[in-house]
Amino acid sequence: MLLSSDMTPAQATEMVHGLLGMPEDRFPADFDTGIPRIRELFHAATRNQWDPRVDIPWNELDLSKYTEEQLYAARQYWSRRAWSEYGAISESPTLQIRFGVERRPTDMQLFFTIRSQEETRHAEVCHMMAEKLGGYIEKPVVQAYQGSVATHGVRKSALDTSIPLEGIIAALVCTAEEIAFDVFRHLIEISRDPVAKAICKAVMRDEVRHCAFGWYFLEHALAEATPEQKARIREAVIVMIEKVELNGYHSAWLAPPSPASEAEVNADRLTYEAGLGATVEEAEKPVFIDSIRRVRARMEAFGIELPPFRHPKLGTI
Ligand SMILES: [Fe+2]
Ligand SMILES: [Fe+2]
Repeated sequence: MLLSSDMTPAQATEMVHGLLGMPEDRFPADFDTGIPRIRELFHAATRNQWDPRVDIPWNELDLSKYTEEQLYAARQYWSRRAWSEYGAISESPTLQIRFGVERRPTDMQLFFTIRSQEETRHAEVCHMMAEKLGGYIEKPVVQAYQGSVATHGVRKSALDTSIPLEGIIAALVCTAEEIAFDVFRHLIEISRDPVAKAICKAVMRDEVRHCAFGWYFLEHALAEATPEQKARIREAVIVMIEKVELNGYHSAWLAPPSPASEAEVNADRLTYEAGLGATVEEAEKPVFIDSIRRVRARMEAFGIELPPFRHPKLGTI
């Protein structure tokens, strides 16, 4: 099919840049270690598998301790967690295709197969928690909130070869997953419910490897990057922080004020007060600011300078 005037710009872009249209060239199939630390992560992940059905102390979840209102809020919260993990389930194999087509080191492919499984476990455990609290909720209670929780764009950009893989990993892993990791660590500290705490611990143990993958890959890939490549990576990270994170992707209180985000923020507050897993603006703010500062410092070490970021609730970071 040739590009034609009746194609939409999106179709045309897909035609030109679409990863799936590229010829597959699998041989020689190379199993050599290209990035030893990522190979080690693969082995560590293989050794550390867990099962949401048996490795979480579900019998310690005592619903009688909570009010109806708290339980409903916590169902909303854990359902929302499941939606974002569900997003990761499809983004992970999409990146896997990209690694293959671009013939990236095999270590990345090996690690990402387990990474995909880990994201499915995260989705399953969050779904189970929502079910046990009274029932999983399939979509945002106020539909308009979808804009904040669904915007991420990694699946699409992973298939668009005009966006460098280094930029996607820097934005998705070294920025968004790094922020998510800090939130989990924070949740472990503040959650009082033993089951909520156990879930956050189990997820965090996987996430530490996911983040490490990103940094090891960037170190490997950036050793010989040109200033132009670094500029594109920088751009991708800025978009992730400004358009996704500061728009409330991980934290509802950062979303632009609207009845929809207010409903989510209220659910978070009730869940937080119950000790069932969520956090609130005043508790999370310093954690979020720290995450951004750390990402900035680590990017700086690669010669990538991030600009100041502004948000009405955070000031300038
Ligand atoms: Fe996850
Ligand atoms: Fe992850």
